[in-house]
Amino acid sequence: MSHYFYDPAAGHGLPHDPFKAIVAPRLIGWISSRDTDGTLNLAPYSFFGAFATFPPIIGFSSEGRKDSVNNIEATGEFVWNLATRPLAEQMNRSSAPVAPHVDEFELAGLTPAPGRNVAVPHVAESPAALECKLLQVVRLHTLDGKPMDNYLSLGQVVGVHINEAYLKDGLFDTQAAQPIMRAGYRADYAQIGEMFQMFRPTA
Ligand SMILES: Cc1cc2nc3c(=O)[nH]c(=O)nc-3n(C[C@H](O)[C@H](O)[C@H](O)COP(=O)(O)O)c2cc1C
Repeated sequence: MSHYFYDPAAGHGLPHDPFKAIVAPRLIGWISSRDTDGTLNLAPYSFFGAFATFPPIIGFSSEGRKDSVNNIEATGEFVWNLATRPLAEQMNRSSAPVAPHVDEFELAGLTPAPGRNVAVPHVAESPAALECKLLQVVRLHTLDGKPMDNYLSLGQVVGVHINEAYLKDGLFDTQAAQPIMRAGYRADYAQIGEMFQMFRPTA
């Protein structure tokens, strides 16, 4: 069996960087925020993850100091919205590199639904949304201690919205919600094909 190996510092030596095709699929952090003047902001971040259950903690990473990070640092709040197949075009439109005063809800033709425990609205059309209060913005550093222009925002979930159409016998129907994920190269996305069950060993 032959293995291709490379050290990222020395270059991948392939037509395109395979990193994001390997760490895939990645659920999209579709992040809404607002600036101190009240302008709404919405943008997708696929460097996204969930890190704790009780209390729930999620985070996303910005490559460069983007509007979302600036807003979240200024207000201490953000919302994660579930990006789905029916909302894919709108999600993509919300990633346009526009000026901070542009409302991406409006740009993408989406409806801001009022927050309950935060002043930031969520995407009304999305099957689920998580209201978060900022815990910390972690500036990433390299092995040699150099600060990078990458910022990991971690938030504690303080409110959960679920469209009841996706609650079946009290269970959130992930497959019916059709989440979309980043996968592969520049324009590639993935969807859930089939789900399977496996229980953890007891001993
Ligand atoms: C599917 C998708 C995933 C993205 N993931 C990231 C990401 O993880 N980190 C990042 O910095 N930018 C990411 N981007 C680009 C941002 O969405 C884009 O720069 C956006 O304009 C940032 O908006 P903001 O300045 O309003 O926060 C992604 C774009 C798309 C379409």
